Amino acid sequence: MYNKRPIAENIYYAGVNDRQKSLFENYIPLPNGVSYNSYLIVDEKVALIDTVDISFADIYFTKLDALLKDRHIDYLIVDHMEPDHAGSIGLLKQKYPNITLVGNAKTADMLNGYFHIDTPFHEVKEGDALSLGKLSLTFYMAPMVHWPEVMVAYESKNKILFSADAFGTFGTLDGDYLDEYLNTDKYWDEMRRYYACIVGKFAVPTQNAIKKLSSLDIKTVCPTHGPVWQKDLQKAVANYDAWSRYEAQEGVVIAYGSMYGNTQQLAEAVAEGILSQGIKDVVVHNVSKTDTSDILSDIFKYKGLIIGSPTYMMGIYPMIEKLLSYIEHRGIRDRYYSCFGSFTWAGAAVNTLTAFSRTMNWELVGTPVENKQAVFADKYQEAFNLGIAMADRLKTS
Ligand code: FEO
Repeated sequence: MYNKRPIAENIYYAGVNDRQKSLFENYIPLPNGVSYNSYLIVDEKVALIDTVDISFADIYFTKLDALLKDRHIDYLIVDHMEPDHAGSIGLLKQKYPNITLVGNAKTADMLNGYFHIDTPFHEVKEGDALSLGKLSLTFYMAPMVHWPEVMVAYESKNKILFSADAFGTFGTLDGDYLDEYLNTDKYWDEMRRYYACIVGKFAVPTQNAIKKLSSLDIKTVCPTHGPVWQKDLQKAVANYDAWSRYEAQEGVVIAYGSMYGNTQQLAEAVAEGILSQGIKDVVVHNVSKTDTSDILSDIFKYKGLIIGSPTYMMGIYPMIEKLLSYIEHRGIRDRYYSCFGSFTWAGAAVNTLTAFSRTMNWELVGTPVENKQAVFADKYQEAFNLGIAMADRLKTS
């Protein structure tokens, strides 16, 4: 009925795929779906690590029954209380009334707040261990990766880290849960989009967690979303490490809004200017067409960013406003930045976009281009020159 191959002796994958939901957290598109991962350790004691979204409780409990045979569950390890993982806790508690929930002091508050559950509860602190028999779990706090109660669990015999949201990705598990059996190429862009949208604001906590966990000997990472990492473990960790240091590669994102095509013409000219200098990695996004999560993901990828907006109701274009909000919330650092825009009777957008460089403490590259009404050769050249300036800055960085 499903993959019962253990991750290691007596340790099983028990998660589910969500191919139905359109929007994660009700605003981030899921074109490739997502998995909610749960893990089961069947030792002298039985421990379940995280649950799944409540929409999938039926199939989840069927899976658990098949793995458990006639055993009951002694412990539920609650690494993270966000409902995509904690959603089935209430039902699990109904099925196993004596189950002991394991978490930290912040988890206890949330368990009570979400489910009115307070006992039996086993509180753990940094470095505490829980023996299951032959195996044991040691807990490390990872606050704000992605919520304050987040913790991870390490099983030392098999060197497995149950990492909560860290090292997770969008994308369902199509046929297997283990990276060795999957073509993982399809996950890397989705991992960056997941990181940018979900974890991206929490760069310092992510760095802290990576540094703390680097002293552990880890052979397998079991995140709450996406593949179990073994073969590509180093790449998954290196990605999170680079993104949480806001490292980016040579290239430019041009994100523009345009009502009647004038700002778009400036975007074309900027792109031509960059390419004329031999920088090939340029992505041009029409903010009215491309989802903001995809643009944000590319901004995490590339060092250069140039934003264009028409003046709209004496301000900036609404979809550009949304993009700026996404960027500001994630506190993206160290980008080379510039801007351009059009207006018909009074300009405002370029001033606002220029000020955004100060908001983000980014280096403003070249001279922002502001165009009145239709774009003619002089403004086209200015925008082309802005592209050249960005290319030059990237080459000297
Ligand atoms: Fe996948 Fe922050 O929950």
